Amino acid sequence: MEPQSRYVASRGEKKPLADILAEKDALETASRLIAEGGIAAVPTETVYGLAGDASNGIAVASIFETKGRPGFNPLICHVSDIDMAETLAIFSLQAKKLADAFWPGPLTLVLPKKNDAPVHPLVTAGLDTIALRFPRGFVAKLVKRLGKPVAAPSANSSGRITATSAAAVNTDLGSRIQLIVDGGPCDVGLESTILKVVDDQVELLRPGGISAEEIEQACGIKIKRTGKSGSIQAPGMMKSHYAPNARLRLNAISVEPREALLAFGPDRANGAGEAAAYANLSETGDLREAAANLFALMNVLDRSGAETIAVEPIPDSGLGEAINDRLARAAAPRDS
Ligand code: TXA
Ligand code: MG
Repeated sequence: MEPQSRYVASRGEKKPLADILAEKDALETASRLIAEGGIAAVPTETVYGLAGDASNGIAVASIFETKGRPGFNPLICHVSDIDMAETLAIFSLQAKKLADAFWPGPLTLVLPKKNDAPVHPLVTAGLDTIALRFPRGFVAKLVKRLGKPVAAPSANSSGRITATSAAAVNTDLGSRIQLIVDGGPCDVGLESTILKVVDDQVELLRPGGISAEEIEQACGIKIKRTGKSGSIQAPGMMKSHYAPNARLRLNAISVEPREALLAFGPDRANGAGEAAAYANLSETGDLREAAANLFALMNVLDRSGAETIAVEPIPDSGLGEAINDRLARAAAPRDS
């Protein structure tokens, strides 16, 4: 994604976004704030991120504080090129191949951390691995300008729906952060795919913006799937991580009284006409469109006040794997 030409910066407070800035002014404002140890919400091609200087413990702590995220949950470090990534982690041949094929883009690699990696230990939560991503667009330019890696989790309070627009960030975190850079709605709309690479072994920790099949085909490899059915690989894989207020009922083939309906594709569940609220992830059944709409539409239905959102079945192929993973987490009992 090339960021859109219209940049809006908002200074906290839940009020309409103000101050339209040119991209270079938004970069200047955000990089100055981050260089001073502040944090800013910024657009990436996947979702909005809450960005801070990865070498500054206070900045990293204030990211955790702002999100209300459990302190043991490690953050992704965003870099502006492979050279910067190599100052942070040890790349096996396989890891290099994946980075060459998919960076910049929605792929995060979990790799062995270098001992002298210039990041604060809070970033990796004491692990000897580090999660790295070279994103497209605004954040890559921000990191380049700053000259050092930026730690950025998704810009939502912990356990809440991930934000894919500046307005969604403003609603959730606007009163707690100083700056939101508006680069328009995110292209991909789902977080990055996370792969853990140990030598030539590649394991899927989180399905995301690039499907595992696409990676397997492009690199001629087989990816090990584990995280999917509940085994907690990283704290961020906590089951109820993406919870809306409403309960979610998955694979619904009919709609119960007073339920909202999150639909997919051209065919409707029984009783859809009676649904308390209705949104369709993709009228044509396009999984990429559905991924881009997922969090925003869950939000819309959540705000309708319905106690339960029935979700029509979504195929588990391609990006459907990541969509179903997010839905399963959002539907999981709130035990964490
Ligand atoms: O698209 C994305 O990945 C967005 C944008 C802002 O880049 N970021 C994002 O970050 O989704 P976050 O913090 O919400 O999710 C990062 C995930 C968490 O589940 C975390 O536990 C996992 O990455 N993670 C980070 N470091 C790890 C490590 N060393 N080993 C295993 N998992 C790790
Ligand atoms: Mg997140």
